[in-house]
Order: sequence, then structure tokens, then C-alpha cells
Amino acid sequence: MSDDEPTRASSAPLLSGRGLSRTYRLPRSSPFQPGPVRHALVGADLDVGHGESVALIGESGSGKSTLVKTLLALDTPTEGTVRFDGRPVRPGRASALRWFRRDTGVVLQDPYSSLDPRMRVRDTVAEPLRALSIAGDRRARVDEVLDRVGLTRHHADGYPHELSGGQRQRVAIARAIVHRPRLLVGDEPMSALDVTVRAQILQLLRELRDDLGLSLLTVSHDIGLVQHLADRVAVLHEGRIVEQGTVDAVLRHPGHPYTRALVAAVPTLD
Ligand SMILES: Nc1ncnc2c1ncn2[C@@H]1O[C@H](COP(=O)(O)OP(=O)(O)OP(=O)(O)O)[C@@H](O)[C@H]1O
Ligand SMILES: [Mg+2]
Repeated sequence: MSDDEPTRASSAPLLSGRGLSRTYRLPRSSPFQPGPVRHALVGADLDVGHGESVALIGESGSGKSTLVKTLLALDTPTEGTVRFDGRPVRPGRASALRWFRRDTGVVLQDPYSSLDPRMRVRDTVAEPLRALSIAGDRRARVDEVLDRVGLTRHHADGYPHELSGGQRQRVAIARAIVHRPRLLVGDEPMSALDVTVRAQILQLLRELRDDLGLSLLTVSHDIGLVQHLADRVAVLHEGRIVEQGTVDAVLRHPGHPYTRALVAAVPTLD
């Protein structure tokens, strides 16, 4: 079967990465030698099933954001392939990826840098509806989504710099779900939220999963969140997925030293 064939196998995972690697050539320090190579990601295989919630954990610098960006065609892997619903996904022209952007929502790691400081919150949240030509009452949809993440009309008419870090993170979440994607990918999407707002967003995500079959891929350092939100977990270490399985299996019987250390640091697990 050709790699370009737009097969739609319903048995295929919703999102599937195979053999994903990303190397960076660092700046050369000598005019006679090539710069050193950094292996940010090495041969990662990761699936997210229909309606499934997968968490990605690992220490800082282990390659979590790199994996997320290659899976989302926001970065080009040095090697490997990505499929969504069986269909190949490659970075390229926005028009060629529109089908994929419609079906996915993204909260990147630094929500402030992903919000345009000159755009009102309302317009920021409406942007995917416009960019993806989604029909319907956009204003009503934006109000509805802002309400779901606990922001008011007052916030909607303001600018990002007028918001707290947690409020900006909620704007980023609202923008990621406004067009009703099938897969929501979050890179530390709740790190700046206090416990009450976090509980509210968790409840929202659970409802979206139950009602719409939303699939989730979440990067998180927070084991409590992983336990609450994920069915499966994958552990990254130095660019490799060193362990993956159900949350219960991985957290109760961690095989890798990093996972063991992570679990040992959580006193409430048992
Ligand atoms: N543009 C780049 N150029 C060179 N090296 C990079 C670049 N982006 C990432 N890296 C390197 O790739 C590795 C993985 O980075 P990545 O951002 O994926 O880590 P992470 O697991 O998301 O970490 P954190 O938890 O701190 O967000 C790191 O060693 C990082 O320094
Ligand atoms: Mg990161």
C-alpha cells in the first residue's frame, strides 16, 4: 500500500506516530567541523485510539514537546510517519492540512506566546472558526465555550495582557475546543490553573469525552492529573519512549527508574 493512499480504516487508531525521530544540528563551534547533533526524539511509536485519553510524561528535556509537535505536523520529523484516521499527515501548506486542523485542537506549552497580544480574547477564540471556515453563529459559539472554561463576557472583550496566567490558559483551552475537534492535544494545558478551575476544566474534558468521544493527548508532570484523565500513559526518557501501558499498570508497577522515581514522589498513590 502506498504511503499516500488516503485509506480510512475504522479499526486504525485515531492518531498514530511510527518511528518518529527528530534531530537538531546545533551551531558549529569550529569552521572546520560540523555542529554536534542532538537527538531530541528517537524512534517513538505512539497511538491515540478513538475516544482514548493518553498522557505523556517524562523529565524536562526528554522530548515531550518535540513528540507533540511532530504528531501535530507543527514540526517535521527527521524520520517517521504520522497518520490520523489512517490518513498520512505531513507538515506543509495550510490548505493541505485543513482537514487535519479541523479535527484537532492544540494547547501549546506556553499559552501566552500562542495568544496574539493585539487581538481581543473573543477574536482569538473565534480564530479557528474563521480560519477553518466553520459555519454557524460564531459569536454564540465563542460565548458558549468561554462560559464552559469559566470566563465571562468581560474577559472576552479584553486583551491577553489583562488576564492572569490561569485565565490565559483557559483562553488557550477555549480556542482549542471551539471548533469541536475529535482530538485535543495539550502540552501542560493545566499547569497554571488553581485547583478549582482545574476541577472545572477536568469536568469539561470528561463531558466532551463522554458526549462527543473526544480523544486526548496530554503532556503533564502532574501524576494526579494523569490518573484522573488518562487511560494510558507513555514515559519519555532522553527522546525515547521507555515505557507505555495503562495508567494503572505503569504507575503501580513502574519498570523504568524515572517512572519509579516519579511514582515514589507521590505519597498518596496507594
Ligand atoms: N529548536 C531546537 N534546537 C535545538 N535543540 C532543541 C530544539 N528544540 C528542542 N531541543 C532539544 O530537544 C530536547 C527535547 O526538548 P523538548 O522541548 O521536546 O523537551 P520537553 O520534554 O518538552 O521538556 P519540558 O518538560 O522542559 O517542556 C531538549 O534537549 C531540547 O534542548
Ligand atoms: Mg515541553
